Amino acid sequence: MMAELRVVPSPGLRGELYLPGDKSISHRSVMFASIAEGYTVINGFLPGEDTLNTARAMQSLGIGIEGLGSDRMVVHGRGLDGLTEPDGLLDLGNSGTGLRLLAGLLAGQDFFSILTGDQYLRKRPMARIVDPLRRMGAQIDGRGGGKLAPLAIRGAGKKTRAMDFTSPVASAQVKSAVLLAGLYADGTTIVSEPSKSRDHTERLFRFFGVKVEEEGNRVALRGRQPLRASSAVNIPADMSSAAFFLAAACIVPASDLTIRNVGVNPTRTGVIDILRQMGADIAFEGLRDQAGEPVADIRVRYRKLHAAEIGGSLIPRAIDEIPVLAVAASCAEGTTVIRDAAELRVKESDRIAAMAAELRKMGVLINEHPDGMEIQGRESLHAAVCESHGDHRIAMSLAVAGLAAAGETVIRDAQWIETSFPGFEQLLRQAAGPH
Ligand code: S3P
Repeated sequence: MMAELRVVPSPGLRGELYLPGDKSISHRSVMFASIAEGYTVINGFLPGEDTLNTARAMQSLGIGIEGLGSDRMVVHGRGLDGLTEPDGLLDLGNSGTGLRLLAGLLAGQDFFSILTGDQYLRKRPMARIVDPLRRMGAQIDGRGGGKLAPLAIRGAGKKTRAMDFTSPVASAQVKSAVLLAGLYADGTTIVSEPSKSRDHTERLFRFFGVKVEEEGNRVALRGRQPLRASSAVNIPADMSSAAFFLAAACIVPASDLTIRNVGVNPTRTGVIDILRQMGADIAFEGLRDQAGEPVADIRVRYRKLHAAEIGGSLIPRAIDEIPVLAVAASCAEGTTVIRDAAELRVKESDRIAAMAAELRKMGVLINEHPDGMEIQGRESLHAAVCESHGDHRIAMSLAVAGLAAAGETVIRDAQWIETSFPGFEQLLRQAAGPH
C-alpha cells in the first residue's frame, strides 16, 4: 500500500488510457445480479475497496460469486426473495453508496442485518435514508436514534409499503435506497428530487427487465417486478476517474490525451460541461451503448482555461468532480465561483474545507462559503506537502495539482486512493511522463 504519493511537474499528458470500471455501476451491478433470476457475468467490475466490500456483503447474504474482483465476475442470482440473513456484521468500509443502497435492499427483506463502515462512513448522515425506509415499514435503529451507522435493520419483507417520497437533497444514493426498498412493496413507489441525480439505478433496472418510469425529476417503480439475468453487464470506465486526467490535461501545457471507453451518461458529464465552459478542448469519439449506458472515447488537448460560475443543476452532475475542478480553477484565469454545493461537506471528507486548506498550501487564494468557494486562479502553483483528509478524491485531486506545481508535491495518506481507483499512480506516471 502506498502511503505517500510524490508528484513532479509534467511536460504534458500524452497517449491513450484505459481506466478502471465505473464505481456506481459496479455497486449496482453486483446487487442487482444477486436478486436476479439466474447468473450474470459482470465484465470490468471495479476492483476497488469500496465495490469489493459491496460484493463481499452480497456473499454474506448467501450469494455465490466467482472471480471476485476479477475482470470477469460471475454472480449467481437467487431471485427477489433469495437473500438470506447474514450471521455477522456487513462492513461497507468507506463506501456511502454501498451502505445506503444496501440499507434500501435490506429494508425489504424479512430478516435482520447490521450495516457498518469505517471511521469516516460512521460520521456520514444516515437520517436521509433511515427516515423514508422506516416509513416504508422497516425497523431501523442506529447511533443518535438512527442518524449514524452502524444501522440495525429488521426488514419489512412482505409488509413493505410503497411510498411517494420527496427527497430534500438531489442524491442518487437516497433515490436508489428508496427504489430498492420499493421493489419489495406491493404498489408503486415514487421518488422526486430537487434536481436530477445520476440515473444508473434506473438504467440498470431496465437492463434487468424492470420497468421504471421517469418524468423530469420524478421516478416511479412498481414493486415485485422480477429481475431477469439476461446477458453480461459490461461496465465502462468511470467518468469520475477520467475527470482527474481531463483536468490534468487542461492545466498542463502540451497535453494531448485520449481516454478509452468512458461512461458518458449525461447525469455524470457535468465536469465536461464545466471544463468546456472554462474553455477546454474536449471531444467525444465513437459514441456507443453498453448495458444501457452511453460510452465514448474522450480526447482532451491543452488549452488555457478561464474562470467559470458553477452552481444549480450542474452540481449534482459533477458532485464528485468538484475537488478536481477546484484544481482546474486554481490554474485558470480569473476567479471561479462554486455555489449550491453544501453536499460536498458530507462526502468522504468535508471536501470544501479539505480542498481550501490544501490548495492554500500551494499558494491559491480561496474564500470558503457554507455551500461552496471562490477560487482565484494563478499563473503557477507552489509544490507542497499535502494531506488526503482520508479521502480518495482529495488525494487524487492534489496529485493533479502537483503536475502543474513548481517542485515536488507530496500527498500523505494517499492509500485511500485504493477505495475507488486502484492503479492510479501508475496510470498517472504513464500519462504524465517524463515520456
Ligand atoms: C453515488 C452518488 C453520489 C456520489 C457517490 C456515488 C452513487 O452520492 O457522490 O460517489 O453511486 O449513487 P449522493 O447520491 O449522495 O450525492
